[in-house]
This record gives sequence, structure tokens and C-alpha cells, in this order.
Amino acid sequence: MEKEDTLKAQMLPVHHKSSPTSTTKYIFTTKSESKPTKPILLLILASFLSLAITLACLFVLYMILFSGWNLRSSFRYSVVIDAGSSGSRAHVFRYRVESGKPVFDFGEENYASLKLSPGLSSYADNPGGASVSVKELVEFAKGRVPEGMLGRSEIRLMATAGMRLLDVSVQEEILEVTRGVLRSSGFKFQDEWASVISGFDEGMYAWVVANYALGSLGGDPVHTTGIVELGGASAQVTFVSSETAPPGFSRSISYGGVSYKIYSHSYLHYGQDEAQEELLKSLQNSAEDGIVTDPCTPKGYMYDNNSIQAAGNYSACRSATLAKLQEGKENCAYAHCSIGSTFTPDLQGKFLATENFYHTSKFFGLDEKDWLSEMIKAGKSFCGEEWSKLKEKYPTTKEKYLDGYCFSSAYIISLLHDSLGFALDDDRIEFANKAGDKGIALDWALGAFILNTDTTTSAYSGRSRKMLG
Ligand SMILES: *[C@@H]1O[C@H](CO)[C@@H](O)[C@H](O)[C@H]1NC(C)=O
Ligand SMILES: *[C@@H]1O[C@H](CO)[C@@H](O)[C@H](O)[C@H]1NC(C)=O
Repeated sequence: MEKEDTLKAQMLPVHHKSSPTSTTKYIFTTKSESKPTKPILLLILASFLSLAITLACLFVLYMILFSGWNLRSSFRYSVVIDAGSSGSRAHVFRYRVESGKPVFDFGEENYASLKLSPGLSSYADNPGGASVSVKELVEFAKGRVPEGMLGRSEIRLMATAGMRLLDVSVQEEILEVTRGVLRSSGFKFQDEWASVISGFDEGMYAWVVANYALGSLGGDPVHTTGIVELGGASAQVTFVSSETAPPGFSRSISYGGVSYKIYSHSYLHYGQDEAQEELLKSLQNSAEDGIVTDPCTPKGYMYDNNSIQAAGNYSACRSATLAKLQEGKENCAYAHCSIGSTFTPDLQGKFLATENFYHTSKFFGLDEKDWLSEMIKAGKSFCGEEWSKLKEKYPTTKEKYLDGYCFSSAYIISLLHDSLGFALDDDRIEFANKAGDKGIALDWALGAFILNTDTTTSAYSGRSRKMLG
């Protein structure tokens, strides 16, 4: 699809350019016909000239179609490394600037990414070790950027929940190691471009890419789409809300001259992996006779610690996860708290549920319609199955992922339905990992790129306007 579009765009000006040539050719022909008495030499010269012009045009057409030289010269490049809890992913973007405005295209010719595990946070005891994966990601990015453009292409590293969970001093040690790599990478880099971003920023970037993909960024705030993300260590809820929010929960951002009042919150520890771990810990703490039963893992699963017994039971798992989500609710200081004692305004508009919401839905092969009620059915059957049977049924799924689907199918319902209040048949919420006609990936790193590039490009054209005026 996108290749076709690019081709069309490239061919149009060529077609336009070639039309004056055919006009010229026409004049020559008519001239020679209307004045047959003219010397034959002139006629030959005219034909020769028109042939030369035609050949020259064909050559230009060939150059444009097969080498794209006229476009390549105006490409810009930018790199965002998303340092998440489960791994680090380098995103390499190629874009153009037309009349002072960036033009994005996330098709495969203009975008590439590579993810390496483990995440930076796993180097807490050995910060120096973090350099290896960052170096490899930088090499990958360098392979996508022409050497002459390296010094003009920005590279940023943005770390999220996995790093937020570490002590600030440890975060800083790991970041400093990555800065060392990025400073000597050849890319354009400033120390503050490697940072642990706030949960608010993470949610806001995810919201930006979703609404960019859907074509609603720059349009009426009422018609924007909210985002709920279920990551490994944190969960984010972000949407345009007209409700008055306490400080820190709401911010106005502007894009295309339109201002959006956005609620966003990152619920740290409420990501899927972190929530499952915390649940197990609290079950262990509350065990009376030393035997712990875990309702969120199918029967027959063997824990390393044999005093924990897997006892898959969907309803029990859903209640246990809901109890964790409600912990601290008695301390809610606002009109309304959906998760713990954190303020959440009433839901407004449509929503997309991404990351692990998407992965679990895909794993169970759920229909887009009624996916929440289907999730309950699928989860009940999965949680109640023997572990050995499940391994046979899903031979290609890695065990470390397979043992998580009982938990996630219950957790998703206790989070979206029991806590946030989405009805089970609510068609205002869909699961997705891509959005829009072009199928743009719903990855917050794309939103970070869009917002940063838009601001730097506008700031640049603003400055040149001032200099001119
Ligand atoms: C195994 O689980 C029991 C019961 O929860 C706990 O008391 C014990 O510390 C655990 N042992 C290890 C090695 O984690
Ligand atoms: C699952 O747990 C619930 C309590 O949450 C209990 O009522 C039910 O009997 C259990 N089901 C099975 C099959 O053990």
C-alpha cells in the first residue's frame, strides 16, 4: 500500500515535467509539416533535438524511479531507544520536511526497530553491563542512517517503569553508562536526552501516536481516542477529560494549534508481570500453614519453591487480583478512585487497549466484538485446564509466557471491568497494536518521535521566520 503511494507521489511531478516536452515536440512537427519548403537539414536537426530531449526526460524518469535521488537528499533521521522493563528497543525513523513541516511515514522503508533483552533495569548490580546492549542498538541504528547524516540525526534514550522502580542513584549510574555510549556514537546527542521519562509522558506519547494514526490529532478534542496500556511493570490510562483533575494528573498539550486537556496516569507495579509477582508475594505473606495456593496458575505447574501450589481457578484469581487493585482505596482523597487511592476521572470517548491487553486477546484468538466477555470464557477454560494438557495444546508458545495467560485473562477483567468500569459488552473499547488506515504501530516511542520532531521543526522554522522578518 505505502510503496504504491510513494510511487504515485514520485511519478506525478515527472509526468508534469514531461508534458512541456511533448508540446515542444508537437510544435516542431507542425512547423515542419506546414512549411515543407524549409531545408531538409532543419527538419533533421529538429527531430534530433526532440529525440535528445525525450531521451533526457527518460533518463530523469529512470533516475527518479530507480534511485530516488531527488528525495533521498531531503531525508532526515531520528532514533528513539525505548528502555522498557523487559528489554530495550531502538526505533529508527526517516522523514522529510516540507515547507517547514515534518512529514512522517512509518512504512517499512522509513522505519525500522530492533529489541534486545534484558531491560536496562536488570543491570542494577552491574551498571557497566548496560553498555553492551546499547552499543548493539546504536550499531543497528547506524546501519540505517547514511554516514553523512549521522551528526545531524538525534538519538534519545527514554527509560520507563523498570527503571522507575530502582533507586534514583542506581538509575543515574545506569543512565550515565548509556550516555557514554551515545556521546561517542556519532549521532547528535545531549546528556539530558538519556533519561527516565515520567509515567505521564509515557501515557501522553502513546495517546499522541494513537490519535496521529487515527487522524484525530489536530482535530476536535471530543473526537480523540483514549489509551489503556498494560505493560510489564506499569499500566497507563490516558484520555481527554473535561473533569477538573488534581495537580499532576492532567496537562494541556497542543498540536496543530489545538489544545488538548489530557488525564494520564501510570500505575506503577500494576503492569502484568509486576502485578503477578506482587500477588504471589502477598499470597505467600498471608499463608497460614506454610502452604500457598496460587489460583492464577494452572494445576500441575511446578514452582521451584514447592511450598507454592498452582491451583488454577479463574473466579478465585479474578477476586484475588481485584483485591490487589482495590488495596488502599479507603485512603481515596478524591471524588472517585478506580485503582487504589489514585484519582481517575469518568471515562470519556472511545478507547484502545494495547500491549498485554492485545497480546492476551490475540493468544486466545478473541473476536474484536465482545472481547471482554469472551476473555472471561477463554480464561475460565484455560485456568481450569491441566498444565501438561496446555503444553500439548500450545506447543509453540514458550512456557514462560504460557504460564501467564491464566493470570492475565483474570487481571484484564478485574482491571478494565471491575475497576475502571468498562461494561463487558462496551464497544467503545477495542484491543489493538496498530491503528489507522496505514496500520501505524501503537508504540509510545513513535509518539515521542512525533511530538519531539514536530516541536523542534516548528521551533526551527519559527526562528528562521524571526531572522527573516
Ligand atoms: C517458599 O515459599 C514459602 C511459603 O510462602 C516461603 O516461606 C519461603 O521463604 C519460600 N522459599 C524460597 C526459597 O523462596
Ligand atoms: C474456585 O474458587 C471459588 C472461590 O473463589 C470457589 O467457590 C470454587 O469452588 C472454586 N472452584 C473450583 C473448581 O475449585
